[in-house]
Amino acid sequence: MSVITHIEDLRVLAEKRVPRMFYDYADSGSYTESTYRANESDFQKIKLRQRVAVNMDNRSLRTTMAGIDTAMPVAIAPTGLTGMQHADGEILGALAAKKFGIPFTLSTMSICSIEDVAAATRAPFWFQLYVMKDRDFIERLIDRAKAANCSALMLTLDLQILGQRHKDIKNGLSAPPKPTLANILNLMTKPRWGLGMLGTKRRSFGNIVGHVKGVGDMSSLSSWTAEQFDPRLSWADVEWIKKRWGGKLILKGIMDAEDARLAADSGADALIVSNHGGRQLDGAPSSINALPAIVDAVGSRIEVWMDGGIRSGQDVLKAVALGARGTLIGRAFLYGLGAMGEAGVTKALELIARELEITMAFCGHTDIRTVDRRVLLPGTFPT
Ligand code: GLV
Repeated sequence: MSVITHIEDLRVLAEKRVPRMFYDYADSGSYTESTYRANESDFQKIKLRQRVAVNMDNRSLRTTMAGIDTAMPVAIAPTGLTGMQHADGEILGALAAKKFGIPFTLSTMSICSIEDVAAATRAPFWFQLYVMKDRDFIERLIDRAKAANCSALMLTLDLQILGQRHKDIKNGLSAPPKPTLANILNLMTKPRWGLGMLGTKRRSFGNIVGHVKGVGDMSSLSSWTAEQFDPRLSWADVEWIKKRWGGKLILKGIMDAEDARLAADSGADALIVSNHGGRQLDGAPSSINALPAIVDAVGSRIEVWMDGGIRSGQDVLKAVALGARGTLIGRAFLYGLGAMGEAGVTKALELIARELEITMAFCGHTDIRTVDRRVLLPGTFPT
């Protein structure tokens, strides 16, 4: 294997090692994928201002997200089916994040359960919640996250119905994969993945299987969302969830200043400017382009974070410069995980931290908390 020097190397390796349906699940957006692509390409349009002859010694990336200390303004985003990118993927991701000193978020649609991750890491992680029609189940999920000592609840607001991703339908995405001829042939080319999977019992949706009754096909994300997710989710629900949870609340999936004001009014601790990695509303702006207007609207009332398109430390710096107090990485994390398990996640975090630290210094700063719009070249960034 050649030397890994950037996230793209991890992506290429993950593409080789992860079964096609799960690699495709991660590396795709909805419909034409225009928003998915814009998330990355709009970062490239923003130019940085180089400064010289400033003291570059003693660089620090340390900051806080929702009052929680973090080694850099980056958290691991919740991603569905993570334990299908690599056996026990959520546990490995949480361990790597803990050792690096950044927050890890566990998805409702994870393979390893809340209890699995809590037992394996013994460190507080964040739990991401999808709201389902069965409110008893949601109450129990919230209580399980509390019992596991989760330090924040991240409520996703932009996926009560699912945007279509063509490849998932064509691949017959399910966890575990169905024993079709096409799947068997593909899995035979992924021995490393297969060995890992033989060594774990965690191969279905761990937060759900065994916790709900009377559900038909539990292996399919699309049928689960269609049948179980509550399309009537409202701001009144945000209020009861906030009350029931009683701890730090993060609202994910805000793309509009009007919604950002409602999010700030709700009393949440942070909001995440996010188009769900370009996986929901195709045609929405990129997250980085949507960020400045939301920071202007509510930045003084609530912490504003962003996700979508971050593949480097340079991207993180641009987001921070445009007012994001923190960022989240989904695919950059999954590529590391699919490529090399826990070591790959650690590698992804190291790469991003190093790029961020050096780029910040080139722009004349040694402390990430002092970075603002002035590191960006006027006329090249969204306002
Ligand atoms: C689920 O969160 C997805 O985007 O697939």
